[in-house]
This record gives sequence, C-alpha cells and structure tokens, in this order.
Amino acid sequence: MAIRYENGSLMVEQVPVEKIASEHGTPIYVYSQAGIFENLRAWSTAFEDRQPLFCFALKANDNLEILKLISQRGFGADVVSGGELFIARKAGIPSDKIVFAGVGKRAEEIEHALNEKIRAFNVESRQELELIQSIARRIDLPAPIHIRVNPDIDARSHPYISTGLSTNKFGVQAEQAIDLIKLAASLSHIDFKGIHVHIGSQVTDISPFEATSRWLKEMYSLLKEHGITISTFDLGGGLGVDYHNVTEASHDCDEKKERIPNVREYAEAVIGPLRHLPVDFVFEPGRSIIANTAVLIVSVLYTKQNDSKKFVIVDGGMNDLIRPSLYQAYHHILPVSSPDRDEKERVDVVGPICETSDFFARDRLMPVVMPGEHLAIFSVGAYGYSLSSNYNGRPRSAEALVDGSNFRVIRRAETYEDLLNLYDSV
Ligand SMILES: Cc1ncc(COP(=O)(O)O)c(C=O)c1O
Repeated sequence: MAIRYENGSLMVEQVPVEKIASEHGTPIYVYSQAGIFENLRAWSTAFEDRQPLFCFALKANDNLEILKLISQRGFGADVVSGGELFIARKAGIPSDKIVFAGVGKRAEEIEHALNEKIRAFNVESRQELELIQSIARRIDLPAPIHIRVNPDIDARSHPYISTGLSTNKFGVQAEQAIDLIKLAASLSHIDFKGIHVHIGSQVTDISPFEATSRWLKEMYSLLKEHGITISTFDLGGGLGVDYHNVTEASHDCDEKKERIPNVREYAEAVIGPLRHLPVDFVFEPGRSIIANTAVLIVSVLYTKQNDSKKFVIVDGGMNDLIRPSLYQAYHHILPVSSPDRDEKERVDVVGPICETSDFFARDRLMPVVMPGEHLAIFSVGAYGYSLSSNYNGRPRSAEALVDGSNFRVIRRAETYEDLLNLYDSV
C-alpha cells in the first residue's frame, strides 16, 4: 500500500506525512506517484487483449504534473471544456488521444478542438451536431464524432453524479439516437465514428455497466440494419472506489464493508457482451485512477463542546474539498500520528467556512484529537483539488507528490496576491 501507517506514523511511500506538513504547512494535498502508476497499470493490464484508448477524465484531477505522469503511460484525456483541452495539451497529451464531451460546448471551444485535431467530439444534442458541422465546413476540417446516447440505465450512485437516466441532461435519448446518427452520417464534414455512453460516477455495482454493454450490442445491430457501421464504442468512466477501507482495519472507526468491483471485473463485464464486435474501445476513467492515491492534510485549530455535539475545527474547508458538502460523500479521517488511541468520541469535523454545510465528517467516531495535531483526510485525489475554490477569500492549498523517499511541491499554495491576480486595476 502506497499510503499506510508505519509504527503509528502515516507514510506516503517512504515519506512521513508529518515531514511534508511541517515543512510546507497545511492544508496540503499529498499524492503517491507509485499509487498512480499502480492504478494506471491495473487499467492497462485488465484490457490487454483489446488495447483500448484510455482517456483520463481531467475533471477528476487536472494537475499538470500528474497529467504528465498519466500521459507518459500512454493515456489520453477526456476533456469537457476548452480550458481542459488547453491543460491536456500543455501536459503533452497528443491531440489524437483527446475526446471532448459536455452538453454546452461553445462555438470557440469547438473551433479550438477542430484546429487541435482531437480524436473525437462526444456530441450531446442535435443543435451541437449542426454547429460542429457548420464550423468544420467553414474552416474545412473534418470533425470526428461519437454521439453520446443516454441509455436510461440507473447507475445507482448519488443522484448528483448519476448521468445515464432520461431525466439527466446528458446525451440524447435512445429513441432519438438513430435519427441523429443517420443525420451525422450524411453531413459533409462530420466523420461519425461511434457511440459514447457514461452512466454515472462512483458506480459500485457491476450490473448497470453490464446492462449498458448489452444495450450497446443491440444498438450496434439496429444501426447495422439501417446501413450504419460503428467503429468505436466510448464507454465513459464511472468505476467506483472504496472510500471506507483505506487503512489497516485496526485504525478504522465507523468502518463499513462494501465490496467494490475491481478493474478486471469491470473489464470482463463491459467487454463481455461486445467481445465479438469489430470495434475499438475508448474508456474515460477518472476517479479509479487517482482517488485513492492522495490524502489531504489539515491541522486541528480548536475543539468545542456544545450541549449536543463536539466539533473538531480544522484549517481546511469546503473550498479545499467540497465532496462531503456537495454529495454527503464519506472520507475516512485519522490523526497523522498515533491513530490507535483508546479514547474515542463522536464528533463533527468542520472547516472555517461560514456555511453549515462546511464539514468533512458528521457524528463520526474518531480518536480524541487536540489542537495543533495533523489529520489526514483519505482518498481525496479525485474531485478534490479540481473542485476547490477561493470561497471566503481563501487561497487554494498546495499539492505535493511523493516518489519513493523524495517529494516535491507540484502546485504551490496560493497567496493573498493570487487573490488579486485577475484585476487589471491593482
Ligand atoms: C463523460 C464523462 N466521462 C468520464 C467521467 C469520469 O468518471 P469517473 O471519475 O467516475 O471515472 C465523467 C465523470 O462524471 C464523465 O462525465
């Protein structure tokens, strides 16, 4: 395990987390390079016989240094904005390994992506398809596309990260897809490649993925009857991770045992129904590559007891990590040093932000902690820093990357001056 306790001290690879926190202050995100490489390897080996293109979803983590590592291992990028496309290219990701999704692509973003000659647009509506055609014709560049189809399959994850239901804004309804694909195939500058689906994120049950692949097989046959051949299936991302059992069991408070499918099981489930079709595959994993490779280190500022609650107030807030506030997401939290303590108590771990929703844990059974101690919030590599903000005038935290017994800061902490950077008049 790249992130683990050794003699009561939290280690990321060979580096004690206390060392990083005392040298660089808190809050700070700390990533393990070995952890990232291990997850990338798991994806590559699970699909070995099909050699798909893996496009890492930048929305999960867009740190330039991390993207460079991911790119070095042959992964491409799934982007959802011109900004993400810009960052992916800066990280050295080749444009023919970049796919571009999103329900609201602007004209200038489409032109930018056409000029970059990306691998494919994942088209989410008829009007978007028509706009791509008109821009591609004007600048006379081909526009490779997948149509994102919404299969109306329940991913059974949190409603805010469920994307494959007909009530969600994503993709086109299956009933409209055939007409849209026929239209795409007839347009002069559109190069129709295939179908894109993404049913949701943090999906911890394999059956919705299997159902999606069976549904895609039917779509393949149906389109064939209409004289249309699919050459690519882009199956999106969504594989969930275990946010609960992140350290050795003896340290776990309020432990929850949930069996999360691994990448190999996922690969068998999704490829199974499509095995005999002559198609290329694209996958867009985000969370499963990066979530469990990082911890967010915060310091305890104060503790306070009310009639009904005890609060542990820390120096990181929802501006640093919003998942608990946004999705009621669970993140394991333990002291960085000596997590095995006889004394435990039920607390809310909260930040300094002026919102009641600014919490990292509620009614959590934790070791008793004191002001000045460092706490580790686990599994924060995905949708952590990338969702951070300057809310309440708070500069963003730093990010550090550990490689063996070395570490380096891969994004410095913001300063007050950074809060003024966007004003011309100061
Ligand atoms: C289109 C698309 N692809 C890929 C992903 C990445 O999903 P995950 O991080 O769950 O693997 C998302 C996330 O919601 C997405 O919307």
